Amino acid sequence: MKGARRRVGAFLTRPGVFYPLLGLLASVVLVVGLSSFSSQIVSAWMRRDMDLRAELIFRSLHDQASSSRASESGALSRVMEQIAADGRILGLAFCAKDGRLAITTSAMPANLDCAEFMRQAVWNATLVTPNGARIRLNFFPLTVASTTGKLLVAHDLGVIEQRERDVRLYVTAALTAVAVGFAFLAAVLTLALRRSWMQSLRRAIDESHKPAADTERAGGPANVDRQINAMLADIRGRRKFIHGVSVKWSPDALRQLLNDELPEARVLTVSNREPYIHNRIDGAIRLQIPASGLVSALEPVMRACRGVWIAHGGGSADRDMVDAHDRLVVPPDDPAYSLRRVWLSEEEQDGYYYGAANEGLWPLCHIAFIRPTFREQDWACYKAVNQRFADIVVEEANCDNPVILVQDYHFALLPRMIRKRLPKATIVTFWHIPWPNAETFSICPWREEILDGLLGSSVLGFHTQFHCNNFFDSADRLIECRIDRENSSVWLRGAETLVRPYPISIEWPSRVLARQAPVAQCRANVQARFGLKDDVRIAVGVERFDYTKGILDRMRAVDDLLTMSPQWREKFVLIQVAAPTRSKLEAYAALQHEAERLATEINGKYERHGWKPIQLVVRHHEPDEVFELFRAADACVVSSLHDGMNLVAKEFVAARDDERGVLILSSFAGAAFELPEALIVNPYDAHGMAKAFDRALRMSPEEQAERMRVMVEQISERNVYRWAAQMLLDAAWLRKRQKIAERA
Ligand code: G6P
Repeated sequence: MKGARRRVGAFLTRPGVFYPLLGLLASVVLVVGLSSFSSQIVSAWMRRDMDLRAELIFRSLHDQASSSRASESGALSRVMEQIAADGRILGLAFCAKDGRLAITTSAMPANLDCAEFMRQAVWNATLVTPNGARIRLNFFPLTVASTTGKLLVAHDLGVIEQRERDVRLYVTAALTAVAVGFAFLAAVLTLALRRSWMQSLRRAIDESHKPAADTERAGGPANVDRQINAMLADIRGRRKFIHGVSVKWSPDALRQLLNDELPEARVLTVSNREPYIHNRIDGAIRLQIPASGLVSALEPVMRACRGVWIAHGGGSADRDMVDAHDRLVVPPDDPAYSLRRVWLSEEEQDGYYYGAANEGLWPLCHIAFIRPTFREQDWACYKAVNQRFADIVVEEANCDNPVILVQDYHFALLPRMIRKRLPKATIVTFWHIPWPNAETFSICPWREEILDGLLGSSVLGFHTQFHCNNFFDSADRLIECRIDRENSSVWLRGAETLVRPYPISIEWPSRVLARQAPVAQCRANVQARFGLKDDVRIAVGVERFDYTKGILDRMRAVDDLLTMSPQWREKFVLIQVAAPTRSKLEAYAALQHEAERLATEINGKYERHGWKPIQLVVRHHEPDEVFELFRAADACVVSSLHDGMNLVAKEFVAARDDERGVLILSSFAGAAFELPEALIVNPYDAHGMAKAFDRALRMSPEEQAERMRVMVEQISERNVYRWAAQMLLDAAWLRKRQKIAERA
C-alpha cells in the first residue's frame, strides 16, 4: 500500500506530470471563480434594473392616483393591469393604510399581507409564494383618491436566478474553450521547441565526438550548439574532477580517461629498467620480472594505456626476442603494449647507469650516509645515453604531440632533450626516489643541468609534498626561475612546469593475490621450506640488496629483541629475502658481504636445536613467491633508511585478504605518510625496532584486523591507476591550456 502511494507520489511529482496538473488545477479555479463572479454581477445589475423600473412605474402612477377619478372609475386598476402586462413585471398592488388590499393585478399572489407591509418601514422585500416562487417587492407611499397606502411593484426573482444560471453556464463554456485552446497551442509550441532543442543537443553531442579540426572545417557549430558543447565540456570537466576524488580507479577507468581527455594521444613510457627481462640460463631462455618498484607500478598502467615502453634491454637473451625494430609485444601471456629495447654497451652502462645514476644521483638523493661520487666521464656518458633515448622517443612518437612518461633519476636530462625536438609534446616526468634538501643537492656538480633538464617537463611528479618543496627550494636557490607556489609550478624561460605530489601505489585488486593459495597453505609451504616448527612466529623482509633499505639495522633489531625478550628464542624468525642488485658497485657488494656476516654472527649467538633467528635468502624472488611469504608471515618489516615510497609495504597489505599480519614501517619511507596504522619505527634505533617486533608479535587478531582494514581502504582507493590518472589529468589540462594559448 505504502509502495503504491510512493509510486503514485513519484509519478505525480515528475515534472512532465506535475506542471500540466498544476496548470489544469489553476484553470479550473480560474473558470469557477470567474463564472461565479460574472453571475453575481449580472444578478446585481438585474436587481438594480428592477428597482429602477419599479420607481419609474411608481412615478407614472403617482399623478393619476391622486385624482379622484382614477379610483372611482377603476381607471387606476386598468392602468396597473396594462403595466403588469409587461413580461418583466409580475404584478402591481395597492395596500390601504388600514391593511386592506385595495387594488391588485391578476398575477399577484393572493396571500399578500397588507397589514404587515404597512407596519414595515422598508422599501423592498423578498417574498416566497405558497407555490415556492420567489418574488421581489418594491414599496412606495401612494395616495389613491385620498386613501393613503403603499404601492407594491412585484418582480419574479426566478428570472434573475435563471439569468445567473445562464451567465454561469456561458462564461464557464467560453472560458473552458479559451483555456483548452491555449493549452493546445502551448503543447504544440512546447513540442516544437523541445524537438528543436533535442536536435541541437544531438548535433552538439555528435560534434563533441568529432576531432576539433573536423568541426572547424564544417564551419563550427551554431550558437546554441556551441553553448551546449561548452556545457558538455564543463560537465565532462566536473566529472573528471569527481573522478579524481572518488572514482574507483581501474584499468577501464584509466582507458576511459585517456579516451576522453587525451583522445588519440600516443603514450610512450621511458625507463631504464625494462618490465620483462629475457635471460639465458643453462641454455634455455627464461623470462624474469625485475625487482623494481617502478616496474611493478608502471606495468599495470601500461597494460591499460597500450602504448610503447622504451627501456634498456639488459637481459642476456633480450636480443633474441625482438623483431627487426628491436620491439616485442608484452606481456607474453596477454599482449597489450610494445616494449622497445635500447641497447647499451658495457662502457655506457658503467658510465650512465652504475656511475652517474647509481654512484652519483642515487646516494645524493637518499640520506643513507653513503657519499656520492661524481665523475665527469660518467656524466658525459649519462648525457649521451639520455640523448640516445631522446632520439628513440622521437622515432617512436610518430607525431608531434605524444604523451611521454619519463621515469626516474636515470633520465634527468631527457625531458629537455625531448622538448627541443618535440615542442608540443606533453612530458610527464616522475622522480621515484626522494629529492634532497637544497643544501644537499647543491653539492652535485651537474645541479643546474639537472634542474634545467627536468624543467623541460610539462609535469614533474614526486611521491610527497615534502620532496616537491625540496625541489622548489633547489630551483629557487640554484637557477634563474620563478616559483609559483600558489599554482605549484616553476617558470623557466617562459615555460611552466607543474610540480606536484603523486603518491605511487600498487595494482588493486592484485592479480598476484588472485593466484594465491589460502593463507594456511602458504604458511605450511613456507614452514616446510625453511624447516620451521608450528609455534615459530615469522617476520619477513623483502627487497633488493640496497644500503638504503636498512637490512643491517633490522638484523640488529632482531638481536636486540632476543636479548631483551628471551622468550622469543626458538619462537621467532626473520626471513630476509634480498635480490642482488647493482653488485658491480663497491657499496652494494660491501653491503651484501656485511649482511651475510652479520646474519651468521647473530645466528651463531642464538642458534639452538637447529633453529636460527635469521634466514637470509640472497636471490631474486618472483611476485608469486613474494606474496606467498607475505601470506605466511605474522609481520612484515620495511626499515628503509630513506625511501621515496616503498611498495613492499603496500604489497604486504594487498597480500593479506585475511586481515592478519602487522606491518612495521620506517618513518623515513614515503609510505609512512599514507599508512600511519602500521607500527612506525626509526630504523636507526635498533632497540625501538626490537620493541616494535615484540609489540607486533603480541598484537591481538582484532587489532591487527582493525589496522589492516584502514590500510586496505587507503590503498584500494589510492591504487596505481589513480596515481597515473592524476598525472594524466594534469597533463590533459595543460594540453588544453596550451591549445588555447596557441590559438590566442
Ligand atoms: C628503484 C628505482 C628504480 C629501479 C629500482 C630497481 O626503485 O627507483 O628506477 O628500477 O630501484 O633498481 P635497478 O637498478 O635494478 O633497476
